[in-house]
Amino acid sequence: MIADFTYHTPTKLYFGRGVIKDLPGVLGRFGKNVLLTYGGGSIKKIGLYTKIRELLCDFSVVELSGIEPNPKYDPSVVTGARLCKENHTDVILAVGGGSVLDCSKAISVCAKYDGEGWDLISGKVRAEASIPVVDVITLAATGSEYDCGCVISHTALCDKRGYLDDLLFPAASFLDPEYTFSVSRWQTACGTADAVNHVLEQFFASPHSTFNDGMMISALRSLMENVPTALEHPDDYGARSELMYVCTLACNGILANGAGSSGWPMHSIEHALSAYFDITHGAGLAVITPRWMKEILSPRTAERFVTLGTELFGFDKNIPDAETANKVIDAFYAFFESIGIPMHLAQLGVTADKIGEMADHILKKDSTENEWMYVSLDKDALVRILTASM
Ligand code: NZQ
Ligand code: ZN
Repeated sequence: MIADFTYHTPTKLYFGRGVIKDLPGVLGRFGKNVLLTYGGGSIKKIGLYTKIRELLCDFSVVELSGIEPNPKYDPSVVTGARLCKENHTDVILAVGGGSVLDCSKAISVCAKYDGEGWDLISGKVRAEASIPVVDVITLAATGSEYDCGCVISHTALCDKRGYLDDLLFPAASFLDPEYTFSVSRWQTACGTADAVNHVLEQFFASPHSTFNDGMMISALRSLMENVPTALEHPDDYGARSELMYVCTLACNGILANGAGSSGWPMHSIEHALSAYFDITHGAGLAVITPRWMKEILSPRTAERFVTLGTELFGFDKNIPDAETANKVIDAFYAFFESIGIPMHLAQLGVTADKIGEMADHILKKDSTENEWMYVSLDKDALVRILTASM
């Protein structure tokens, strides 16, 4: 069944080799004053920075560099918002991974707000305006290039917030798979794990339909089949292009139109882990995924596992549901391990002494206990998942 839904994505996608040639025309629609944002230097190593500066020769450009993974409200968002106000920025051009883009999205609303920007990000105040954001995404992972979310860390508050608002959709996203050839094995694996998890967060929901299931299983198959090739041959355009496009769609909501929502519990847990230990998002999700699956497995949820088992992994339809479900859980564990992700939180630097505190943090921020979750998770359940993940 397809349940009622509303869907709108205003972001224009430019996909393929050399698409950034259209960048000046797209930016020019918004004005001449550009804030160019980027991270720690990967765009300089691959020659993209030089190319962008050439394309922007007719624009007045101010730069914000050094945006870190798990982007920080202070200094990055605060500084960016100040630069926009001082320079009357017409458009923000984000060049890099999801962290650069998320930071730029947060800047785009904070720059149009006179109060404390964290009040917008934390949901205390609703944003009323934003500066348009255009991006050149260089890492296949988050899907931020096609969604209305950003995730920002506030170090002083030990908080990492997912912030959603239609104002945060990029105006245009440029996706050239060649810019992902230089992505390291670690980030390629973690980016893919992130997108696999995005699909699973939407797959474990009720109601759902044959059509939703088909799209999501196809997305999972593309990610899982192409990542080994990208790891072995980083400049394989075919594999990189599939990863890039599937990652772009995986977080946009289109895969789950007409289906129920699971409440994205694994992201709630991972955001607490990143807030406390600054770990790589996709790695944290990979570790949690099989443990969360074990926690929610029940006669009610078994059907979801069986669909994955038979349609994605090709398991025999005649074996008992519980057995299939456990084989599915083992298959995801083996997949994440095979692409080089250490499957224990301790290996990522997480310490067990914070588990109780993190469980309280998750409940306070994300209400995983609510009845609208596909499977509600109380404190004991969160502690069990985190402990099993250690
Ligand atoms: O900083 P630079 O030098 O650019 O290096 C980055 C960074 O060190 C590097 N990198 C990016 N493109 C590269 C490259 N290295 C070589 N070649 C390239 N072409 O990769 C490193 C990680 O970058 P980052 O942007 O942090 O990775 P990702 O895209 O995975 O973003 C992760 C962030 O996004 C949030 C996560 O929580 C995390 O903060 N998420 C955002 C979402 C959204 N907006 O919808 C949803 C996700 O679930 C997620 O929570
Ligand atoms: Zn994610």
